[in-house]
Amino acid sequence: MTVLGIETSCDETAASICSDGKILSSIISSQIIHSSFGGVVPEIASREHERMLNSIVSNSLSDANLKLGDLDAIAVTNGPGLAGALLTGVSFAKGLALGLNIPLIPINHLEAHIFVNFLADPTLEYPFLCLLVSGGHTQLWLINDMEIYELLGETRDDAAGEAFDKGSRILGLGYPGGPQIEKTAQYGNPNAIVFPRGLMDPDSLEFSFSGLKTSLLYFMDDFQETPDCRLPDVAASYQQAIIESLSEKLARAVEKNGVKTCVVAGGVAANSRLRLVLKNRIKNVRILFPDLEYCTDNAAMVSFLGELKFKKSDKSNLLFSVLPNLKLN
Ligand code: KG4
Ligand code: ZN
Repeated sequence: MTVLGIETSCDETAASICSDGKILSSIISSQIIHSSFGGVVPEIASREHERMLNSIVSNSLSDANLKLGDLDAIAVTNGPGLAGALLTGVSFAKGLALGLNIPLIPINHLEAHIFVNFLADPTLEYPFLCLLVSGGHTQLWLINDMEIYELLGETRDDAAGEAFDKGSRILGLGYPGGPQIEKTAQYGNPNAIVFPRGLMDPDSLEFSFSGLKTSLLYFMDDFQETPDCRLPDVAASYQQAIIESLSEKLARAVEKNGVKTCVVAGGVAANSRLRLVLKNRIKNVRILFPDLEYCTDNAAMVSFLGELKFKKSDKSNLLFSVLPNLKLN
């Protein structure tokens, strides 16, 4: 079957076609307009989605050499995310599904981030652990089967992506912060400054990043570059503190749950240093990452999970609403 996926939960307008488990197209328009504000402005995000959706969907169809009439179903993200932004995608998808008289499948954005790992390796088997690290979430999940999920730990304050974004703002590196910090940190020493790692007591699987961010803020108050400590050293040390917190908790969860595979999901999974540190820290367990283009927000994950969900239960319902605070379970 052939499914169109639509994603508008934050500041990426995206559409994708998935057919029999293969991604035929994946179009993403990132709203760079927000960078001048240092973060996403919800009202602008909704208006940009409205402006872009039609052409993004058309491009995803033409990239896949398909027409609207070839679609068997549509999948759309209905949460979590910004209410207005979600509403643009869901309204568009409902109108299209009604017009084409084909089923519509609501998709949980978090679940889509996790399941895109099946694209990285279709032989991935349950149960597996998932470190979900995005701009709004930092959670450890035990994935027992589709729709059978157990939350093992999560952040008590900021998400890891948020820590990258806030840190980047403090360092004057711009938005989104993850890629900026990663780029600057490339030339720095990760051990130059010892920033705090939150909630390190032995049994904890929880995360905390707000103390780290405050510590960077104080550090930068009277920071002067010297040959021994340059801005890249600060970025690298700050990044290292985030990554070590993540890798330590994932390693503990692996030990406690005895799984054979871990997957990493969400925008922060794109970080190459995180990938390296996790592979060095967690031995004897396979660690899977999505392809880089499927780490940050995209619609391939939506069309892919849409097809899986439709095959599991082919019920369509146009009455669902947007759920800005939707959880995984
Ligand atoms: O999954 P995502 O695109 O959107 C949400 O669902 O939140 O994640 C966005 C987050 C942002 O906070 C961004 O700074 C972070 O992922 N991110 C990264 C990298 N690329 C994106 N963090 C660290 N390193 C990266 N290379
Ligand atoms: Zn996301």
